[in-house]
Amino acid sequence: MNILILGSGGREHALAWAVKQNPKCDRLIAAPGNAGMADVAECAALDIMDGAAVVEFAAAQSVDFVIIGPEAPLAAGVADALRGAGILCFGPSAAAAQLEASKAFTKEICDACGAPTAGYAHFTDAAEARAYVEAQGAPIVIKADGLAAGKGVVVAMTLDEALAAVDDMLGGAYGDAGAEVVIEEFMEGEEASFFILSDGANILPVGTAQDHKRAYDGDEGPNTGGMGAYSPAPVMSDAVTERALREIVQPTVDEMARRGTPYQGVLYAGFMIKDGAPRLVEYNVRFGDPECQVLMMRLGAQALDLLLACAQGRLDRAQVNWADDHALTVVMAAKGYPGSYEKGSEITGLDAVAEDSAHMVFHAGTKMQGDHLVANGGRVLNVTARGASLAEARERAYAMIDGVDWADGFYRSDIGWRAL
Ligand code: AMP
Ligand code: GLY
Repeated sequence: MNILILGSGGREHALAWAVKQNPKCDRLIAAPGNAGMADVAECAALDIMDGAAVVEFAAAQSVDFVIIGPEAPLAAGVADALRGAGILCFGPSAAAAQLEASKAFTKEICDACGAPTAGYAHFTDAAEARAYVEAQGAPIVIKADGLAAGKGVVVAMTLDEALAAVDDMLGGAYGDAGAEVVIEEFMEGEEASFFILSDGANILPVGTAQDHKRAYDGDEGPNTGGMGAYSPAPVMSDAVTERALREIVQPTVDEMARRGTPYQGVLYAGFMIKDGAPRLVEYNVRFGDPECQVLMMRLGAQALDLLLACAQGRLDRAQVNWADDHALTVVMAAKGYPGSYEKGSEITGLDAVAEDSAHMVFHAGTKMQGDHLVANGGRVLNVTARGASLAEARERAYAMIDGVDWADGFYRSDIGWRAL
């Protein structure tokens, strides 16, 4: 099979690494890809937001299967364009991608199917939103309705913070994404992420993970896209998992099908778990980044079979072969991230870091400059290891980091602390 992966981050490198190991994969193309993906795939320049351009490219290259990594092309309808042209593709339609693209839509789906989630109201008018916040009191959570690159959520511990967030969002700080705000009850508990494939009717869980959103050790500092992750998430016990599937995930998939917009792809569900009861925090319509890196490390080559079964509507006959293992990834980011940072600093030492089925450095934001590997983004490397225990995976990952020489980078030294 000829396979095309859309995206250029650590998530897509991990997908490419797993897919390439499967004997079904003859030719692998990544668009646009990055310096790390170039080791396992041909990288091609392509505007992945342009459905017609992606279809034309896939047809010209005789691509049999397209895997869409990030949410933006999904929300823009690239999966619809591919399916419309008869090209097999992994990822939801634009209509189904509303589960990530609109928080108000997700709340409406939860209401319709009875899935437990935080109580909420939504507003486009600032005066009404402020009055609601004042009536509810703090802590309270203010969310921009649309896609805001992970920045549209304020967990306000005080009334002043909450009111400022309302004014900010409805005042245009997030552009169109914040033209409507969802205001939610603050939920207490422990968070976990759950990844479930859906072919529109059948579901298949493919792993749990926990990430670390804050930039610095001890969960201090600004929010980021994620500074590290591990899988499995201990809080997702069998009982919690069973309940989450029965009360939240399957009802969501059924409701999407009932509406004529079946969900096909991976559902990334964020849960808040308290006293064994999961409630939905949010859905994303793609794999998490860096959560995907630990999931792929554990699944390996079978990931391609699972994604294919999902795209072909035969998940009822698919199964995951689980090993009793753990994986952990540490993100190396450019100093200054998530604020402003420099691009172009050199990274050395990677050639000497051994890579195998238990050790991989996934590239999130790198490029080649002549013969030199340089940083080309905020999150730059995902140093990932697998082990028989979480402690072993963590030890391996940090030992690999010791071999990386990058003066302009930083990382958290406590990934996995909550579970260890
Ligand atoms: P989201 O982008 O929706 O995942 O929100 C970012 C983070 O805000 C989540 O990972 C939670 O830590 C937190 N959060 C979102 N909604 C709530 C809520 N209703 N109660 C408590 N924390 C929340
Ligand atoms: N790591 C969080 C995300 O991918 O949204």
